[in-house]
Amino acid sequence: MERYPSARALIDAIKPDRPVFGIRPHAAGRAAQWFLRNFPGEVAYAYKANDSVFMIGALYGAGITHFDVASIPELEDAATIPGVRLHFMHPVKSRAAIRLAYHEYGIRCFALDTEDELAKIVEETGGAKDLELFVRIAVPAKNSRVPLERKFGVTGHKAARLLVKTRQVADELGITFHVGSQTTTPDAYANALSEVHKLIVKAGVVVDGIDVGGGFPSRYTDSHPAPLSAFIDVISSGFERLPVSAACRLICEPGRALVAEAESLIVRVDARRGDELFINDGSYGALFDAAHLNFVFPVQLVSRDVPATEPMAPFEFWGPTCDSIDRMKGPFMLPASIREGDYIEIGNVGAYGRAIGGRFNGYGSYLEGILLDEPMFTMYDIEQQQAAQA
Ligand SMILES: Cc1ncc(COP(=O)(O)O)c(C=O)c1O
Repeated sequence: MERYPSARALIDAIKPDRPVFGIRPHAAGRAAQWFLRNFPGEVAYAYKANDSVFMIGALYGAGITHFDVASIPELEDAATIPGVRLHFMHPVKSRAAIRLAYHEYGIRCFALDTEDELAKIVEETGGAKDLELFVRIAVPAKNSRVPLERKFGVTGHKAARLLVKTRQVADELGITFHVGSQTTTPDAYANALSEVHKLIVKAGVVVDGIDVGGGFPSRYTDSHPAPLSAFIDVISSGFERLPVSAACRLICEPGRALVAEAESLIVRVDARRGDELFINDGSYGALFDAAHLNFVFPVQLVSRDVPATEPMAPFEFWGPTCDSIDRMKGPFMLPASIREGDYIEIGNVGAYGRAIGGRFNGYGSYLEGILLDEPMFTMYDIEQQQAAQA
């Protein structure tokens, strides 16, 4: 893989005809180190966020050995990494997936949110006595861009009953939740842990693991989250107050916060119509979140210099397919003179960008390059980290 000092250097060198993923493995490694140093428990990477070998390699190189997987292909890929511990945290799994995970890949850790799913796990593992079972509860999303509580999670009496039933068959009983992706304030975790507290008291069970899920934020042009240390503080104090076993494990499963800032997308402008730019990737590619969840990613013109006096102007993007929902309304602030043939770096697309992209209309094929410079926005205070390492 070619390495370039920056997106500008990449464009100067190859003038690509396809969109390019500019990967910054050092940024993923730094994020992983930050979590491993500061989170008071185990850190598992949510594999779904980005499974590029460069990203996985950077995370593993930094010390991440636990991975949250959600499907057979993910677990088969992640299982090739030496010495990993896999958690199968999708609450709905096929019987075949449970069998393969337990019997072929040695996975012991499963999430569930119904008695039916519990029965499936027990049946397909042959009544195994070494299961680590995490009951997924639904907690209210607060300041989250992608709420997840409607699809999965159990609450109230049903949750208490499920905990009791799960306790009867689990070697380790855990509780897990997800506060929603891109949660910008830590109070969501405080609320969730207080729900967990009430539930443990109600069910009267001994709990051996708390998995606070993902949800930790990244930075975008339209999103300015609280510092990550504030999330750690809230989780630590909420966890310390829980009535759990002395050896209770605390686990987190970040996806976005580990990889978002470690990948940029470099696109070319193929046409300009007023304030609308037609670019060569879009909502069916790595910009799903910009189209469907209105994420405003940071952008910069990288193919030529413009005078410092040139005004910036708001633009919206159209992707390359014939579909009119292939639209990213932004606004994306770029030099007013932007024109056909220019290249734009779209930053912080590392989480769920390449992971979601498809091949609609024959698009969805990318080049890749390693970028050695810093991400456009970072949650990790680079100077402080460098000073600490010096
Ligand atoms: C079970 C589970 N864990 C972790 C994650 C990662 O979430 P995030 O990328 O918001 O950190 C997800 C995302 O959907 C998830 O479903």
